[in-house]
Amino acid sequence: MNTKVFDLSKKVAIVTGSGRGLGKAMAIGLADFGANVVVCDRDRDVAEQTASTINSSGGIAVATVGDITVRQSCEALIQFTVEAFGQINVLVNNAGIDIIKSSTELTELEWDRILDVDLKGHFTSSQLVALQMIKQGAGGSIINISSIASVIGIRGLVAYSAAKGGINQLTRVMALEWAPQNIRVNAIAPGYFENIMQGAATEHDNPDKQQQIMTFTPMARRGKPEELIGPVVFLASDASSYVTGTILFVDGGYTAA
Ligand SMILES: NC(=O)c1ccc[n+]([C@@H]2O[C@H](COP(=O)([O-])OP(=O)(O)OC[C@H]3O[C@@H](n4cnc5c(N)ncnc54)[C@H](O)[C@@H]3O)[C@@H](O)[C@H]2O)c1
Repeated sequence: MNTKVFDLSKKVAIVTGSGRGLGKAMAIGLADFGANVVVCDRDRDVAEQTASTINSSGGIAVATVGDITVRQSCEALIQFTVEAFGQINVLVNNAGIDIIKSSTELTELEWDRILDVDLKGHFTSSQLVALQMIKQGAGGSIINISSIASVIGIRGLVAYSAAKGGINQLTRVMALEWAPQNIRVNAIAPGYFENIMQGAATEHDNPDKQQQIMTFTPMARRGKPEELIGPVVFLASDASSYVTGTILFVDGGYTAA
């Protein structure tokens, strides 16, 4: 077997929502393995910071501002990437939001907002990137960032869980449809990580929540953002050339228990 199967040096990867958190860690990791990275975030300052972290450590990255809920913005992201690097080989659909409220309190507006970002945004960017990959004729890899909430019930996450469950199904359907073009579509489903999503800080500051996470995570700790690098590089690279339609849980054993 070619031992360079994890090498990404001929690949161009877009990571949405990579201005901070898990997306930032994955963008840095993909660049460390040789990919040219497009850092995209709705917040320009943090996007530029991630790109400059990558560039100052010898990697290659460019930053752009983009909102995955706006179709024209996704089209602009693709155009920007092709102008910068000539092609797109990998898309990591990572941008996400979280509003923690009970099912009786969540407003219709909040429901729509969560579904817009966490589900529809992934659909739109995947569809447009796949069309570009089909045009290029060389296949590609799309990686959706799901969550353990896609398969288990977590109080306060009604819309988020519905969106993440939808992500798993969107992953499977797109994998089937685009397999003939060698576009692989997979998901990574993280458990509880040290980076707390924007909007979830109050919930996670609660010692009871922390205790619950420690009790129900067999490895009895939160994941470190860098622990997503191995899984994302695997799915982005030729190391996973026969892997499509799968949901890879990276959760310290949470969903195995
Ligand atoms: N942190 C965890 O423990 C955890 C666990 C499971 C799944 N996840 C998933 O991982 C992904 C990243 O989570 P995180 O913890 O890094 O979150 P975060 O809140 O720290 O970062 C999310 C980033 O996405 C950007 N973003 C939000 N909406 C956007 C939009 N419409 N367009 C473009 N960018 C947008 C934000 O500006 C931010 O930089 C999310 O999809 C989340 O659901 C996180």
